[in-house]
Amino acid sequence: MASEYRPERPSLAVQRQSPELKQPTGACESSSDDLFEWAITEALFAKPLSLFLTAWAGHIPFLFALFKLSKPRNYVELGVQYGGSFVAACSAAARYDIGTSCFGIDNWQGDRHSRSYDGDDEFRKLSEYLKRHFPTAVLHRKDFSDALQTFEDGTIDILHFDGLHTLEAIQRDFADWRPKLSRRGIALFHDISLREAEFGVWKFWDRLKTSCRTIEFYHSAGLGVAFVGPDQTPAVNRLLSQWETNDPFREFFRTTCEHIGRELPDRMMATLPAPQPSKVRRLLRPIKRFAKRLAMVGSAGSGK
Ligand SMILES: C[S@@+](CC[C@H](N)C(=O)[O-])C[C@H]1O[C@@H](n2cnc3c(N)ncnc32)[C@H](O)[C@@H]1O
Repeated sequence: MASEYRPERPSLAVQRQSPELKQPTGACESSSDDLFEWAITEALFAKPLSLFLTAWAGHIPFLFALFKLSKPRNYVELGVQYGGSFVAACSAAARYDIGTSCFGIDNWQGDRHSRSYDGDDEFRKLSEYLKRHFPTAVLHRKDFSDALQTFEDGTIDILHFDGLHTLEAIQRDFADWRPKLSRRGIALFHDISLREAEFGVWKFWDRLKTSCRTIEFYHSAGLGVAFVGPDQTPAVNRLLSQWETNDPFREFFRTTCEHIGRELPDRMMATLPAPQPSKVRRLLRPIKRFAKRLAMVGSAGSGK
């Protein structure tokens, strides 16, 4: 959307070749309270392989936790653009080694809430990036409605709606795609906090959340998470029952996701791989030469 999306291109994004793409061994399942909390904490501090700047960045830590707890067999994203949220999903699937198939759908033509961008160029760059790093991920360059027949009914575990954000558009997209959700189905909706004219996801969300179990965040334009399918994994059910019955947990979890999400771009920068010692020596050489010259000038000036 115009006010939030910076026209950041994959080549300009924060890139990070992560040695930690896979979770550390010993990261665990939810067999006790401590382990459950650790499982969530580990996920919230995980990072995507690259961060292509997007208004969605603040929700990436939660996305990792969601992948870890729900182990989706597939993830479908409606509205990919530069790939910020899509690459995060591919990274989460790789980290937890859960065999998730990731599909991204976009016509790469932009819409009236996204700034205009060069769709051909962005599609090409993202396709090349995915081929290198996540070769099993699939992009469909189509209108959402034309991609419907690609997926069987009842098969999608996580369906992420992030196309045009008017009320009419989200109602139409959800009506079209709702039958595709599996019995474990989870739907994500970005921009539930934006109430300016034209943005209508919040109205849609206010109605939807009376009909199923949900989690919601207000930062980074807001994210609604609807657990539409009746057969969620035990770990997801556990998160939901904490969310629904434990007020301090809910506040803690929401605030933690928000803070960690906001800091993600900084943490990505902070963990760029350390330069090799030989490179450091090369970089230091002119500084050392300069220091030597300074010392010589200094000693000449002091008459020594
Ligand atoms: C908000 S951006 C997606 C941002 C992305 N999820 C991220 O966080 O980095 C919305 C994208 O949806 C696409 N879009 C909107 N309506 C569409 C439709 N009906 N069919 C295909 N693509 C659509 C636009 O081309 C635009 O690239």
